[in-house]
Amino acid sequence: MPGVFIAFEGGEGAGKSTQERLLAEHLIASGHEVVRTREPGGTPASEAMRNIVLSPEFTGLDARSEALLFAASRGEHAARVIRPALDRGAVVVCDRYLDSSVAYQGYGRNLGAERVRSLSLWATNSLLPDLTIVLDVDPVIGLRRITNPDRLEAEPLVYHELVRTAFLEIAGGEPDRYLVIDASRAVSDIAAEVSALVDLLMQGRQ
Ligand code: TYD
Repeated sequence: MPGVFIAFEGGEGAGKSTQERLLAEHLIASGHEVVRTREPGGTPASEAMRNIVLSPEFTGLDARSEALLFAASRGEHAARVIRPALDRGAVVVCDRYLDSSVAYQGYGRNLGAERVRSLSLWATNSLLPDLTIVLDVDPVIGLRRITNPDRLEAEPLVYHELVRTAFLEIAGGEPDRYLVIDASRAVSDIAAEVSALVDLLMQGRQ
């Protein structure tokens, strides 16, 4: 595909949204067409699924149903937003993607990393990011930054510790496609490191 797909991943309060915005601004300033998006969400139907799956109203939602909803939301998002943007050569910057399901549902809900991964691969017709940036932060620190927690954020600390381990394991298994960043550093330092690596990736594509 002519475009470039970059995903941000990490636990709660890691600063993904800030870094996603700063990277998008950097890429736009460099003259790229950038599509900024997020999961769960990104299309009207996916946002509707987001409302179900994150709502504290549905506390105790069955774990498999939760995994299926995230995968369904992702399938719609990939088909309607991400693939068309990549086809026309845009850079897609996405706040969370498939590895969030592997970490939160596969590891966190103990549904199995491989099974959850293959569910999302099926849902998206095997669409994977070119680069995934994992912002790593101790959940004790990250959760302190959250006000008004949604259904997943309200899970106990041990759940978020499992999620953190998951992201590090996923990234460790494929170092060429992942960048792990210590998210306790200054926002500007992180942004500079991310931009430099993405610039390299883009140069390699030209
Ligand atoms: P969001 O408000 O976007 O949180 P954040 O700012 O932390 O990204 O809510 C997304 C929540 O959904 C977050 O707690 C992680 C969770 N999630 C999953 O459990 N599985 C998934 O596949 C995705 C995309 C998100």
